Parts: sequence; structure tokens; C-alpha cells
Amino acid sequence: MNCRDRLEALTGVLRHWSGLWSRSILQNWPESGAAYLESWLSYADSLDEKSERMLDDGELPGAPPQSLHSLLLALHGLTELPWHQGIQRLTTADVQGLNAKKAHEIERVLSLLGQRTQSIRQAVDIGGGMGHLARLCVKTFDWTFHSIDRDAALQEKGRDWLRRARMLPGEKLCFIHASVEDGPQSAIDPLFSGRDRASMGLHTCGPLALTQIRKSQKAGFLLNVGCCYDKLDPSRDYPVSSFGEAHQLPFTRHALFLATRGRHKKTEAEFALMKRVYEHRFTLDLLLRRKFPDLGFVRAGDAPKALYAESFAVYARDRLERLRIDIGMTESALNSFEGSVRPETRRIFHCHLLRDRFARALELVILLDRAILMEEMGFQVELLQVFDPRLSPRNIALIASRAE
Ligand SMILES: C[S@@+](CC[C@H](N)C(=O)[O-])C[C@H]1O[C@@H](n2cnc3c(N)ncnc32)[C@H](O)[C@@H]1O
Repeated sequence: MNCRDRLEALTGVLRHWSGLWSRSILQNWPESGAAYLESWLSYADSLDEKSERMLDDGELPGAPPQSLHSLLLALHGLTELPWHQGIQRLTTADVQGLNAKKAHEIERVLSLLGQRTQSIRQAVDIGGGMGHLARLCVKTFDWTFHSIDRDAALQEKGRDWLRRARMLPGEKLCFIHASVEDGPQSAIDPLFSGRDRASMGLHTCGPLALTQIRKSQKAGFLLNVGCCYDKLDPSRDYPVSSFGEAHQLPFTRHALFLATRGRHKKTEAEFALMKRVYEHRFTLDLLLRRKFPDLGFVRAGDAPKALYAESFAVYARDRLERLRIDIGMTESALNSFEGSVRPETRRIFHCHLLRDRFARALELVILLDRAILMEEMGFQVELLQVFDPRLSPRNIALIASRAE
């Protein structure tokens, strides 16, 4: 894949629709809804729940408007990425202490590394937590490994675990308690430098991925899987490459949050819960706007999951109590308000289903920009899907090797 061609094509499509993906629907309602074509909204209104779920999966059941069909086709093609297929099976002893997600990720990462790290002898992991990736790399490749994390308690658990399991020669794996920051850090920077050194970052939150990339300019190999794009600062952390700068999109914090939300095929129950959460949340928003227009947008916070199975009145009471707002309405008045605004909350829900179609494309723009930065630093770069997105939705690995 040519990263520059892909970024140029993707940003070309996305730029045209920035009015949809750059703004929050709820915070800017009803103006935000005006950005959605009437033909798209009446198409969405015509869908039953099964078809809504298909739309949430990126399909267009029935007779969609041509413009929506063309857009989804373009986004689908431009977000396709090759898969890393290999798996290095872990033994029963290896997987002790790992949950299913972590075991799945490490099996794929080990296989991916095995094919690409012939000249590597040492490695460092940013945000290595309990050191599971580190210990399995030491065992598999016999590397010397430094696992850095700012969470000392997590590292102590990792040390304890290694001592008890008596699995590795102690000198091969070293935990370093440090916060990895931009700018010079004489104690840890040398760990990222050298053609025989690999730099790892598995699910580095927000800007930590960029810190890893910048520290690894002289490394022989880099693997990064990003996450939590909403922790990026759009004015500081995007774009990071020169090419990306010339093809910049108007990223906002709402767009960054959307980029973290690309999800693959929800189950029927997951979709039903999402819909219910949205319905209650949107209804509460419309209620507060009507009763207390001066409050502006009110953050309601996440309610306990069980509350979403209850009527709107029960949910609203809980949230209003937490917000210390006395609405002066009976339970039946609250529930009848919910019924009266249902067509409007359904429309807000449909705007969300349509806006979510941009999530994966926005994520890929962020990752392509990082990949191109690595190319600009002289690395050969791959972007591969590595994890099953049902287990680990942030599943794209940025892999960079020194160009010979
Ligand atoms: C999302 S977890 C990923 C942990 C592990 N890599 C994995 O894949 O399971 C992020 C880890 O990074 C650590 N972390 C976050 N920011 C850090 C920083 N600036 N320096 C060092 N560690 C950091 C956190 O303490 C946490 O253990």
C-alpha cells in the first residue's frame, strides 16, 4: 500500500463531509442535524431495527440514496488494509496471567515480530504494564528487554509473578519505573537507539504513540498500536508528517473521539443496549433544553448499566438527582415526555448511525499520518490489521523497519 496515495484519497473524500464528522450531534442539536441530507435521514427513518443494525455494520439495506451508497463504497475501499495472518501459539504456561484479549494480541504480535526482526537483539516496551509481552519476547527470541511503565504497582505485580513462575533468567528482563515524555530523558533514551534495538508500544494511549515514534528515530524496528485518540490535542498532535500537513483535515476533539469508536459488528444485544442508552440520553437532553434553556449542554455522565433497562423516568430521576436538578415532574409526566419526543430522539439516533460510518476512516487518517512520518524518518513502513476487532477493536499495527 502506498500510504501517501491512500492519505490523499481518503482526506479528499472526508474533507467534503467534515460538517458531519467534525461536530458533536447532541451538543449542537438541532443545527447539527441540518448537515445530514434529507434523503439520508428519510432513508434511515424508513429502517426497522434489524435494518438499523445493518446500517451500524456499514451495510445499506433496502433502497439507499445514491450519494450515501457512493460514500460508503468509497470509505469501504479506502479503509481496507491487509491482514497479518500468522499466529504463534502460546503454551498453557505462557498464557497464565493473561486474559483472552491479551493472549490473542501477544500470539499475533509474536508471529509478526518473528518474520521481521532477524537483526534485533534488544527491545524496549513503552507502557509495558506487567511485562507480559516482554517476558514472552525474551522467551521466544532471547532478546534483552526493558519494560517501561509509570505505574509502579503494576510493575511490582509483574516482578512478583515472574519470581513465582521462575520462568526467565532475571537479567534478561528489566522493569523501569518511569514516565516516558517528549524531550531528552538521559536514563531511558539510549534504550531506543541502535540498529539491533526494537521499540514496542502496544495500545499506547493518545500522544504516547507520538512520543514513542520520536524517541525511536534511531531504532532498528518499531511496532506501535495506538488507542484513545480522544486524548490527542488536535492542534499539537495532528498532523505530524510533512505530507499530512499538506493534506490536513479539520480535526476537532469530537472527531478524535469518533475515531476511537470504530467497532466491528455488534451483537444483537450490544446494538439493543447502545440504542437504549442513546434513547434515554437524548430524551434527557431534550427535556433539560426545554425546561432549563439557560443551562446549555449538560453532561449527564454514564449511568449504571442496569438503569438503561428501566423506564425513562427511573433513569432521568437518577441523573437529575446526581446533577442536583429539581425538574418538578411526576414519573408518568417524565414517561409521557419520552413518548412525545420519540420521533426526534430517533432522528438523533439515525444521525449517529450515519456519522459513525466515518469512524474507521478518521482513525486511518491519524495512523497514515504517523506511518508517513516514519517514512519521512527513513523507515520502511507497513500498516496491518493484526487483531480480531471483536476482541480488540483498535487492531491496526504500525510496523517500521530500517530501510536497507
Ligand atoms: C492501555 S495500557 C497498555 C498496556 C500494555 N501495553 C498492554 O497492551 O496491555 C497503557 C499503559 O501505559 C502506561 N503509560 C501511560 N502513559 C505512560 C507514560 N507517559 N510513560 C510510561 N507509561 C505510561 C500506563 O501506566 C499503562 O500501563
